[in-house]
Amino acid sequence: MAGGSGSRLWPSSRGLYPKQFLSLCGEETMLQATLGRLAGVDCDSTSVICNEEHRFIVAQQAQESGSPLETIILEPVGRNTAPAIALAAFDALESSPGNSPLLLVMAADHLIEDVDAFQASVALAKAQAETGKLVTFGIVPTSAHTGYGYIQRGAELGGEAYAVSRFVEKPDAETAQSYVDEGEYYWNSGMFLFSAQVYLDELKQHRPDIYSACEQAYAGKSRDVDFLRVDKEAFMACADDSIDYAVMEKTGKAAVVPMDAGWSDVGAWSSLWEVGDSDEDGNVVSGDVMSHSTSNSYVRAEHRLVATVGLDNVVVVETNDAVLVADKNKVQDVKAIVNQLKAEG
Ligand code: GDD
Ligand code: MG
Repeated sequence: MAGGSGSRLWPSSRGLYPKQFLSLCGEETMLQATLGRLAGVDCDSTSVICNEEHRFIVAQQAQESGSPLETIILEPVGRNTAPAIALAAFDALESSPGNSPLLLVMAADHLIEDVDAFQASVALAKAQAETGKLVTFGIVPTSAHTGYGYIQRGAELGGEAYAVSRFVEKPDAETAQSYVDEGEYYWNSGMFLFSAQVYLDELKQHRPDIYSACEQAYAGKSRDVDFLRVDKEAFMACADDSIDYAVMEKTGKAAVVPMDAGWSDVGAWSSLWEVGDSDEDGNVVSGDVMSHSTSNSYVRAEHRLVATVGLDNVVVVETNDAVLVADKNKVQDVKAIVNQLKAEG
């Protein structure tokens, strides 16, 4: 899934070039790193689902990284992850008639440090998905983050998997804290493994409107080399919702496999400070940066020398046409700037 907007990583992440297509840590872009992670996973084919306007970026980045793609499914508009995954599920079923294909659903904008541990969790999840479970990958929470889904683990299913007794998408801060204190909860990593058919059955049961819109959109598809376009009118009429609200909170078939693989969702600039290699003053810098009496800060220079003096806990991001200077504790609010820019046209 590479259809998000990544607005909290402005000014590096832009509408025409959102974060999944950027190299934020290391050489590879986030999409390329995601595709690379699949090298050791037993899968028959890989598809990317993204917005129509990013089709050439996806095709080029996949080619450059030597990761052949079966299909690039193009959405005329973003309708969030429940419809995106439905289109991929319809396509998987059509591509393997008579089989019951499993889908490993990954977000194109996560970092995973320990690829072997990720692949081991996928293998455990596969065994559960084969029995008809919708498998999530659970991360042991380190804070009461309100941007994640929370999974309460239930009965042991064997093979290091558990039934899910409750899935709560993005709880408020107080609720999130109570889950962290209880200790039986994981964060939802936002990756899933399930049978394409089981996902569509659950979607049909819990959100028949989304199911029908996607069924109709897929029925009106056209193919152009690797690109698959769906019927625009039908897809535009689809409700906007995430898999988490539309299916995972409601299904009785969810399971969770814990994953300890150095996972992080690079949601905002503070995450890049958290995952980066810091100097002795706790600064993480990228590009041409000079710092003096600066601590605990993230400084990224893309085009010019950036110098900082006397800063603590600050984020500075320089690009060719915009510069962000922010309190590191407030970087979730960068979205507000993006919304303001959009409103001002
Ligand atoms: N193709 C496509 N179309 N992809 C999309 C769309 C869409 O309309 N909307 C989002 N995506 C992609 C994003 O690029 C990202 O890779 C992934 O789907 C997840 O979307 P986010 O918008 O980043 O979701 P989130 O971070 O708020 O929440 C999800 O991930 C968390 C972990 O990072 C949920 O699954 C949470 O439960 C989870 O904790
Ligand atoms: Mg995300």
